[in-house]
This record gives sequence, C-alpha cells and structure tokens, in this order.
Amino acid sequence: DQSGLAYSVGTTLDRFIKLKQSDFPFASGELSQLLRDIALASKIVNRETNRAGLSNIGGAFGQTNVQGEEQQKLDVIANIRFIRALSKGGEVCAIVSEEEDAVIDLQNKSGKYVVAIDPLDGSSNIDVNISIGTIFSIYRRKTPIGSPIQEEDIMQPGTEQVASGYVLYGSSTMLVYTTGFGVNGFTYEHSLGEFFLSHPSIQAPKNGTIYSINEGTQEEWNSGIKEYIDACKSANFSARYIGSLVADFHRNLLKGGIYLYPATQKNPNGKLRLMYEANALAFIAEQAGAIATDGTKRILEIQPTSLHQRTPLFIGSEIMVTEAVEHLKKHQ
Ligand code: AHG
Ligand code: MN
Ligand code: MN
Ligand code: MN
Repeated sequence: DQSGLAYSVGTTLDRFIKLKQSDFPFASGELSQLLRDIALASKIVNRETNRAGLSNIGGAFGQTNVQGEEQQKLDVIANIRFIRALSKGGEVCAIVSEEEDAVIDLQNKSGKYVVAIDPLDGSSNIDVNISIGTIFSIYRRKTPIGSPIQEEDIMQPGTEQVASGYVLYGSSTMLVYTTGFGVNGFTYEHSLGEFFLSHPSIQAPKNGTIYSINEGTQEEWNSGIKEYIDACKSANFSARYIGSLVADFHRNLLKGGIYLYPATQKNPNGKLRLMYEANALAFIAEQAGAIATDGTKRILEIQPTSLHQRTPLFIGSEIMVTEAVEHLKKHQ
C-alpha cells in the first residue's frame, strides 16, 4: 500500500478500497465506486439468498437462458439486482451477463467500465441450501468515453481485466477481489451490514491434495483427464465437489487443490463460460500464485469471440495444474 495509511484485519471494505485507491495513480475513484456498487448489490442478494426458503423465491423461474439452462428465480433476481446497481452507479457503460442474451448497452456517456457478471453461480444448489456465489470481471472500455460501444470494448481477453472478484454466499458471506495487486478477502458481518477484511493478501498453496471434478461425467473424459484423476486417487487425495464453481474454487484457493471442468461429449468446449466465470477466477488465481489454463493456453490470454463462449477450465495450485496439463498433453 503506497498511501502509507494502515489497514489490517478488521478494516471495512469501504475503507480498504479507499486506502487502495493509491494503487492507481491516475484513477479518479470511479473503479473504487464501482467496487462499492457491486458490494452493495451483493448485500441485497445475500439477504434474498438467506431467506430464499421463506419468501417463495426458490425454484424455477419458468424460462431458459441463452445457453438453454433453466433459470431459477434467484438467477433472475440476482441479475436484476446487479444490473440495477451497475446502471445506477454511473461508472459502467456496458454489461455482459449470463442471464442476458446480448450486451446491455447502458447508453451511459460517462461510463468508463465494462462489467461481465455471473449474477448467481451454482444455481442448482439454491433450493438445497448449499453455497452459491456471484462472479464479476471489470474492464476499461477501449474506445473513447461518450462514443458508442464497440465490439472491442466488450470482447477483451482476461489479461485486460482491471479488477475481478467473487462473492461466496456460504457458511459466511465473503467478497474476494483483486485489482492486480494481490487478492484480499472480506467477510460480511450481518448485524453491521459491512464487509470486513478477514483474509489479507491471500496466497494459494503451491501444491495440494484436493481434486474437484464432476466424476459423473468420467465416461466422457479423454484419456489425459482419466489418467490424472487416477493419479490423484493413487496418491490418496481427497475428492471435493460442490457444484458451485465459486465454492469449489474458494476452497481450493485457501487449502490447495485443483478444479477441473474438462471438455465432455455433451460439452465439447467444457461447460464454464470464459467471460463471466473463467476469466475472473483466473485473474484471482494468478494474483494469488495459482494458475488457470484451458489445457493448452493460459485462460487470461484467450481472445473471446462470442459473449457466452465456453472453455475447459483447469485452475488451482500450480504444481497440480501443471501435472494435469502434462497428462493432457501426453494424450493429444
Ligand atoms: P451457473 O449456476 O452460474 O449456471 O453455473 C453452473 C456451473 C458452476 O457453478 C458449477 O461449477 C458447474 O456449473 C457444475 O456443473 P455440473 O453440474 O456439470 O458439475
Ligand atoms: Mn446458469
Ligand atoms: Mn456460474
Ligand atoms: Mn449463474
């Protein structure tokens, strides 16, 4: 922190963001405000999530999204909450959301930032009271402020992210984010309505003993994945898979482990979406000393060609991901 001002465990998110603003010598505070807007929306979604079982917002919404997934009511509610916060905040010009077919052009002449968001991650877990999340990526628009939004403003590779993060609505609610200067985690204190710094400068263990993959799809894996998972079993590693990417990623980030969502016959490009799932977590992973690849390429360097494109994802502790990739390469 170049500001010379101190922060420590227990510092509020607002104060932390303010202190860290000095990391951006030319920043005028808009990115800070945008992070605050996201935090505010996440508090609202947290509240909805916490009482979902009581307020009749569980279950299916009755429509499918652009990728043919059945939307849950909370998918739709979270989408509305985040879009509202991002449009009212004034810093954003365009939004890419899992739940919206097309880019939302906010027609905001002063908005510098583009946000890609998975408003509610792990929606199959909502109705069974298991951890879910929100994932976001923030980019600076490429074309001049005030001019119409162009494709190049939206289709940016992950290396261009200026910030990314996720919220985990888990046994406690946490917000974890990076602006490219390390990764910090904040825990939500319900009674005070504030996020407090609880996990400063998160460092991912270089190695681990946890592997996370949906083993129900193993008949569809290629030989490289099979071989690597067999190696995990021979080494007596622990299998842990929640089915909410945010939760699986967060566990492995803190404890050391690997998350794999490979190509399958059903999903030849994997299932997870590059622009609002893989990129955000890849940025966090790298900032914490972990790695993220699609098996051949660094996730952050993939040039997106469509909004909802999918990518295989191998993410987590450096030694584990490197070994997984070696097995993949052997069988190419
Ligand atoms: P979303 O709920 O945002 O559509 O994301 C679902 C994703 C991700 O959260 C999870 O890791 C993965 O789907 C689980 O897929 P499988 O059920 O195929 O294991
Ligand atoms: Mn979905
Ligand atoms: Mn998701
Ligand atoms: Mn989602």
